[in-house]
Amino acid sequence: MNKNILVIPGDGIGQEVTTWGQKALAKIADKYHHNFTFDIALMGHEAIEATGNPLPDETLAKAKATDAILFGAIGHIKYDNDPSAKVRPEQGLLKIRKELGLYANLRPIKLFDELLEASSIKPEILKGSDILFFRELTGDVYFGEKKRSEDRKTASDLMIYSTYEVERIAEKAFLAARTRRKKLCSVDKANVLESSRLWREVVQEMAKKYTDIEVEHMFIDNAAMQLIKDPKRFDVVLTANLFGDILTDEASQIAGSMGMLASASIGDKVGFYEPIHGSAHDIVGKNLANPLASILSASLLLDISFGLKTEADNLIAAVEQVLKQGFRTKDIANAKTEASMILGTKEMGQKVIDLI
Ligand code: IPM
Ligand code: MG
Repeated sequence: MNKNILVIPGDGIGQEVTTWGQKALAKIADKYHHNFTFDIALMGHEAIEATGNPLPDETLAKAKATDAILFGAIGHIKYDNDPSAKVRPEQGLLKIRKELGLYANLRPIKLFDELLEASSIKPEILKGSDILFFRELTGDVYFGEKKRSEDRKTASDLMIYSTYEVERIAEKAFLAARTRRKKLCSVDKANVLESSRLWREVVQEMAKKYTDIEVEHMFIDNAAMQLIKDPKRFDVVLTANLFGDILTDEASQIAGSMGMLASASIGDKVGFYEPIHGSAHDIVGKNLANPLASILSASLLLDISFGLKTEADNLIAAVEQVLKQGFRTKDIANAKTEASMILGTKEMGQKVIDLI
């Protein structure tokens, strides 16, 4: 197979981890005789420094022309503490999501058995958890009109959804549920929000077509609680942009660490793959970041964008193997992990590559 892959490492630990996702793809190409051509582009803080724009035109043009995108992370502390900054790294990510029509963000939360002890949640509650989140990604307060009053003392972000936006992601979630345990939980705040009432109406209407799927509706506050109380009750979770942002960070604890979670953003055409963790400026350049989420993102890319299931599974198996051998990065180690088994980013990345 001949494919072009655009690599956008982005900010913070993005650089350090994305190298390993890319190396994993290159190793797969080698092993299975594919021809992957890599290109690289700027986005985020890095792009602002170089061009003044968090999503340079050149990056967008490359993104529109490629077959799949492997992304790292975005953000810089400089802006986190400066709410008045007009140009922000995150604008790059939001704009590329919108421009590429990446309306469905899939975040699989699967716990590797080896990491049962790495989570802050009790192992007996976690064991067997397997959730697939469908987070809507191009609507909601993220893209609704933003206003600031003239005296700057009042601000608002419009929470807005249209029927077609709910339908197109719900459709993907229903179809995914069909290939899994046939359960779908739609999360909203329909007891308070009009946009959630629309969301619920649409999902209820669609449920009539998917009679083989067991559909449940849950309020976001309850869902946040149920998620750590009894994660096994969830199969596919469908939710809006903001709720999904928050719930999936919480759900990362079910997988042991944010450092383990990959995500796929899909929609109109090209797929965009990234770890769910952020730029983690506190550990930049320290060889501490976990490269596994980037490697697992590469696995999603192979599976979803290229339909290469065997190759994708090979990456997952390599990650599993490394964990079975007892190796851990610091974020997934615990008090019982021997110091000699705790690896840095590079050592962990190399171990996985060697096992592919
Ligand atoms: C995520 C991130 C982004 C979001 C930020 C960096 C804009 O938190 O992908 O979950 O809020 O969507
Ligand atoms: Mg987030």
